[in-house]
Amino acid sequence: MKITYGGHACLLVEEGPVSIVIDPFLTGNPAAGLDPAKIKVNAVVLTHGHNDHFGDALTIAKNNDCPVIAIAELADYCASRGVKSHGMNLGGAYDFGSFRVKLTPAWHSSSYTDENGIVHYTGEPAGVILTIGGKTLYHSGDTALFSDMKLIGEQHRIDVAALPIGDNFTMGPDDAAIAAEWLKAGLVIPIHYNTFPVIRQDPAGFRNQLEAKGIRCATLSPGEQIDV
Ligand code: NI
Ligand code: MN
Repeated sequence: MKITYGGHACLLVEEGPVSIVIDPFLTGNPAAGLDPAKIKVNAVVLTHGHNDHFGDALTIAKNNDCPVIAIAELADYCASRGVKSHGMNLGGAYDFGSFRVKLTPAWHSSSYTDENGIVHYTGEPAGVILTIGGKTLYHSGDTALFSDMKLIGEQHRIDVAALPIGDNFTMGPDDAAIAAEWLKAGLVIPIHYNTFPVIRQDPAGFRNQLEAKGIRCATLSPGEQIDV
């Protein structure tokens, strides 16, 4: 599993000929690590409707003639905008052939503000468990720390967990470090920090905190890649 950090909460996951982008907020992201026009994917996965996650989802889905996979209301909204979609809900998993997606709960909020300033209801926020090529990635989405992360860690072997550390809107570093333990994550990638001043954090400090507990951590710059 090859993971490229697109900046903020965006991950591009590639396994052989299959690739999936999660939360492609690239246009308007001051720290974007990918060019949305160059993204070639089999699916776009969204954790929730907030604009710093939805981002270029419609453009990428149109360019690639691929579905947006998301919670039902958000998937329906995407379909109303003329792209393919696949709706799911919390706790549900679906086998897409070359990869499998399961949505988990996330403690957050969700809505999408369109180009005309109209706010759309986009269902509950979610986390994503993506299994591809025998490896499992857990992208928690935007969330508070919650103790059912222990259950996620018990039910799934999490090879890599992408966890927000920005604080203010999501977990901060201390809570994310507890999440990493509860998930028994093989590797943690911190996300959702330093995009804007209000979520400024020190990723090296977070990595030190995890390494002190014996948990591997990879702090990626936007555009940087790692093999898991
Ligand atoms: Ni959000
Ligand atoms: Mn966010």
